[in-house]
Amino acid sequence: MPDLTTLRDDTPGTHQVMHFNNAGAALQPSAVLNAVTAHLHNEALWGGYEAAALASAPLDAVYRSIARLLNAHPQEIAVVENATRAWDMAFYALPLQPGEVILTSSNEYVGNYIPYLQLQRQRGIEIQVLADDHNGQVSLSALAERLAQPGVALVSLPLLATDGGPLQPVREIGALCRAAGVTFLLDACQGVGQLPLDVREIGCHILTATSRKYLRGPRGMGFLYIEKGLCEQLEPPFLDLHAATLVGPAQFDIRSDARRFEAWECNVAAKLGLGAAVDYALEVDVERIWERIQQLAGYLRRELSGIAGVQGEDAGVCTSGIVTFTLDACSPLRVKQVLAQASKPINVSVTRGRTGPERVRASVHAYNTEAEIDALVAAVRGITAV
Ligand SMILES: Cc1ncc(COP(=O)(O)O)c(C=O)c1O
Repeated sequence: MPDLTTLRDDTPGTHQVMHFNNAGAALQPSAVLNAVTAHLHNEALWGGYEAAALASAPLDAVYRSIARLLNAHPQEIAVVENATRAWDMAFYALPLQPGEVILTSSNEYVGNYIPYLQLQRQRGIEIQVLADDHNGQVSLSALAERLAQPGVALVSLPLLATDGGPLQPVREIGALCRAAGVTFLLDACQGVGQLPLDVREIGCHILTATSRKYLRGPRGMGFLYIEKGLCEQLEPPFLDLHAATLVGPAQFDIRSDARRFEAWECNVAAKLGLGAAVDYALEVDVERIWERIQQLAGYLRRELSGIAGVQGEDAGVCTSGIVTFTLDACSPLRVKQVLAQASKPINVSVTRGRTGPERVRASVHAYNTEAEIDALVAAVRGITAV
């Protein structure tokens, strides 16, 4: 991994702000900014279609980069507008039948839970939320027990919730799903770019992710991994002339690779920016990024635990860079506002899960420094003292 000075020199935003909103949208490295702006410039100079044609080789390389990041095949990758659209395209393609069961976790993302409810209403599927174990992770024994009974068509959950908490034991979940012959859809939105992810090791059939969070890519981009064998069986809920070809007056063929889940028109500059973000993460080394994030998050949690009137809220055997807390004396929104007014602004966000109260979310990335954490902790201490 490049040293911290290089990481920060690569990240122009670190000069302006102390950014602890990496679970919202992280600061982009210059490589991403340059890829996006160079392409926008080309579009303005040559025309949008002409600029895309000039960029055809780097555009193809985006799929290879994402595949490398996940240990997948480029044909198993679709690039779409965001993680939600990636997830929706796969989820709504699944042939779920009345009475079939979706198993999910207590930390499921609201944006995924609503589609479950919609299919419950439309198709009569059943939603079952698995119990947590004493570490706040999905109970593997509860999962094994439920998979041994008939009726489960899908296991679908996030690797890591938007409001932090434990990392789910996804390899064990994947192994149980494979043994039971049940599809495993993994929402890795908060994990991609934060920690190493290998779809073959995890054993998920589908994985969805976004560009702008820990991966540090542009907004408005996301991607879908879908295992080759499954991809060919799933008919996307929407088709266009990129996903399918008209082969007769009333006949069409759907393409065989994962790009059947894409639309023809897209933000080409952002797609190139996503590719640059993936290449940057691979160059920095995701394993090392993860080590540094855990180190910094541990430091932040320890420092916050020393402040009277502050409650750390993260559970789990393996917690991530997403640190959440509440203050007795001040609402999360007010904390966010006060921190944003510091002479060098401190960016945090307010989060809440599907259930539970609002909390302050300070999500660290490898480019954060211990000194920034000291400044955040001092500012929080200052708020509690008022
Ligand atoms: C766990 C999780 N899943 C999915 C999403 C949705 O991602 P996007 O906004 O890119 O659609 C988020 C966004 O915060 C998330 O935290």
